[in-house]
Amino acid sequence: MPRRTAIEPPLVLGIESSCDDTACALVDGHGRVLTSVISSQLEAHRRYGGVVPEIASREHLRNWPAVRREAFERLGIEMSDVDVVAATSGPGLVGSLLVGLSVGRAVAYGLDLPFQAVHHLEGHLYSPFLDPQGSPAESIPARFIGLVVSGGHTNLFAVDEGRVTTLAETRDDAIGEAFDKIGKRIGLPYPQGPRVDELAEGGDATSYPLPVPRSGEELFFSYSGLKTQTLVTLEAICREHDLALPLDEPLPQPLIDLLAAFRVATVAQLVDRVGRLHEEQPIELLAVSGGVAANRLLRRELERWAEASGVALRLVPLAYSGDNAAMIAFAALLRQRRGERDDPLRVEAASRVPLEGASSD
Ligand code: KG4
Ligand code: ZN
Repeated sequence: MPRRTAIEPPLVLGIESSCDDTACALVDGHGRVLTSVISSQLEAHRRYGGVVPEIASREHLRNWPAVRREAFERLGIEMSDVDVVAATSGPGLVGSLLVGLSVGRAVAYGLDLPFQAVHHLEGHLYSPFLDPQGSPAESIPARFIGLVVSGGHTNLFAVDEGRVTTLAETRDDAIGEAFDKIGKRIGLPYPQGPRVDELAEGGDATSYPLPVPRSGEELFFSYSGLKTQTLVTLEAICREHDLALPLDEPLPQPLIDLLAAFRVATVAQLVDRVGRLHEEQPIELLAVSGGVAANRLLRRELERWAEASGVALRLVPLAYSGDNAAMIAFAALLRQRRGERDDPLRVEAASRVPLEGASSD
């Protein structure tokens, strides 16, 4: 751990509680992640197969004191050492957001510190530039394309000197949601996405070729049709092999093959859209983030595509792909450098809020 003397101001406290992870991080003025603590609520939600909003907010309240203590004790610092306070204000579950946001607002107001209300996707968007070993963050290029793939979002953004424009988004399900729903139908424990990915490594994707929907003139994503087609194929396999869902692991090989086919189709859609965008307006640098950016096939395929297309690629470090507070603190640092600032007495939590226009006062 870096010693106190090595910390470059401003020291930014990041708080993230938009869904089911309670997270606290400290990032310094070089964009170095000094500490990042995440308390997941897996056990609390597992018996329901997904996140239960009421349970999530109560767990955030319960977990926050220990998460905060661990972050500060690891670094041997006090709250009075913090220079800037940042918390996620949306989008997410309002009851969950309110916990972290209220803490952040109170600390900033009480200690008279600058406050940054950070959009959750802005956090993901810049996370590929963080260093997982605690070295300074890479400097952010003036222009880049961001692909954010998570449980709630599938978005392509153009970033130009801090200004963000949405180029494509999903018309229905988010990619992570599709992974979770397929896994849940089979009977896999929550969170299903990472397990589907793991199982798919041992499957033959050619057994059940699934279609990749092309988007027309307009660039968009769509995962609902693929999800339905996969579920229909799943039922057919179950009938053919006399299987009753939900199943316990180990899964029979035909289901593993189906998961592999599903994963190939999800990733192919991403590569298709990124490729089409590159044809229209050449991409110099593609930064990929969000929980689904941990997907093994996605990482391999995008690496292959980027190399073949001469595009610089930044895949988020695995430590920062899922929800975390380091990305929130880092996005806040970038806002702070641009001279932006929010009023802790006025910001509100919002379950849905576009990234464009989520600017400060
Ligand atoms: O970014 P994140 O932690 O939370 C949101 O902002 O949504 O993303 C969580 C999503 C879940 O849907 C989870 O199943 C999915 O990311 N996920 C994965 C993998 N790891 C996490 N999906 C596919 N493959 C993975 N390896
Ligand atoms: Zn997220």
